[in-house]
Amino acid sequence: MAIDYRERIPNNVDLSGNRRLQRALESWQPNYLRWWDELGPAGTQRDDVYLRTAISVETDGWANFDYVKMPDYRWGIFLSKPQAGRTIPFGDHKGEPVWQEVPGEYRSALHRLIVTQGDTEPASVEQQRHLGKTCPSLYDLRNLFQINVEEGRHLWAMVYLLHAYFGRDGREEADEMLERHSGDPDRPRILGAFNEPTPHWLSYLMFTYFTDRDGKYQLASLAESGFDPLARTCQFMLTEEAHHMFVGETGIMRVLQRTCEVMDELQTDDPERLRAAGVIDVPTLQRFVNFHFSVSLDLFGQERSTNAANYFTTGLKGRYHETRIDDDHRLTEALWPVHRLQDNRIVCEDGPALLALNERLRDDYIVDSQRGVNRWNRVLEQHGSDMRLELPHRAFHRAIGEFADVHVSPDGRLLTEAEWHQGADDWLPTDADHAFVNTLMQPVTEPGKMASWIGPPSRGINGQSIDFEYVKFR
Ligand SMILES: [Fe+2]
Ligand SMILES: [Fe+2]
Repeated sequence: MAIDYRERIPNNVDLSGNRRLQRALESWQPNYLRWWDELGPAGTQRDDVYLRTAISVETDGWANFDYVKMPDYRWGIFLSKPQAGRTIPFGDHKGEPVWQEVPGEYRSALHRLIVTQGDTEPASVEQQRHLGKTCPSLYDLRNLFQINVEEGRHLWAMVYLLHAYFGRDGREEADEMLERHSGDPDRPRILGAFNEPTPHWLSYLMFTYFTDRDGKYQLASLAESGFDPLARTCQFMLTEEAHHMFVGETGIMRVLQRTCEVMDELQTDDPERLRAAGVIDVPTLQRFVNFHFSVSLDLFGQERSTNAANYFTTGLKGRYHETRIDDDHRLTEALWPVHRLQDNRIVCEDGPALLALNERLRDDYIVDSQRGVNRWNRVLEQHGSDMRLELPHRAFHRAIGEFADVHVSPDGRLLTEAEWHQGADDWLPTDADHAFVNTLMQPVTEPGKMASWIGPPSRGINGQSIDFEYVKFR
């Protein structure tokens, strides 16, 4: 299971044993590198970045840290170890041996799942490509680049599956991954949230907390798949994803720490005075939470979904931690509570669990999102502030599902059009908020120094100190 780095494409799937596949991927590789050059982190080709690279897929100690120029990063194909005798854990095929090849009747559904997941990976790199110019510290810059190279590797993971298991269709689809671009009016990325710009570091930290977490839940449910190569691919991707959410959670916490320090110093929570002192006030942070949380909730899809039911019944996509759930794993009779709109009220009603799988995954996501918010609030509490951040109601500001056509306040009240327009500026980031945040985005590149609006991390990367030179510019 060791990864062979002498190969052009590092891998633990014995690529050299399949010359056709190896040649196909080797001919995709220059296109990928060209894409990285054109749409990856802007102007960073020669910088030395202190990055971690996978050296094995064992759970402990898979990472090696060293200075790397990002275009030389060894993007490769890494699958978690196979589990001997693994059986399909859910759906109509529960208990049958997992598939090592794509079952003909599920080919197009699997193809769609892999393409949709794969498309998000390069999209986020494109969204974040200009952030390097305004980094709040070298530590943060290094973490941004780590995330970017790993999202690039996640694209490799999905492209491998397409090339290895979907023949010509798969190869064409792999090419298109590099032809659609985030925000491109003619050839946009597939999912809405991945066409939104990431205009500054506050958006980026919110994105890595809320939107990468959607990724975690999608990957975790694909990691249960009866199609074993997909399951193993996603299991390994999850180990990388954890760092992305860590960046978001600790990043927002450091923003709050800095805000609290200045609130203490000035003995005020007046947004204008705090802004003048170069920190981000709590109501502004709340508006960004509202935006990024609601946009991320949309990524889970319709509350009632026959597609999701089919993915489950056919054994392609499970629930979060499927094998740890204590039930029949078929859900033919089971019920699940779903939020719905009824007679101009929001109600929560039991319906068939099979149709509610998107909603169930969203429920898991909301619980998980709340944990970090609680930790953020502890910072406010420790500083004696009685302000708190809150997740808005799940029906707030939704563009997909039951609540797409109604206006709902952050505390879950249905609103008239007029009430919505009256409140919207208090609930969602305004142009003025973005403009203010952008004034703070001055690059800080001296080792150990932090921008005015964010506190230092509690520790450095891989045991290095906070003032370690995480990026060397060339
Ligand atoms: Fe990813
Ligand atoms: Fe990610």
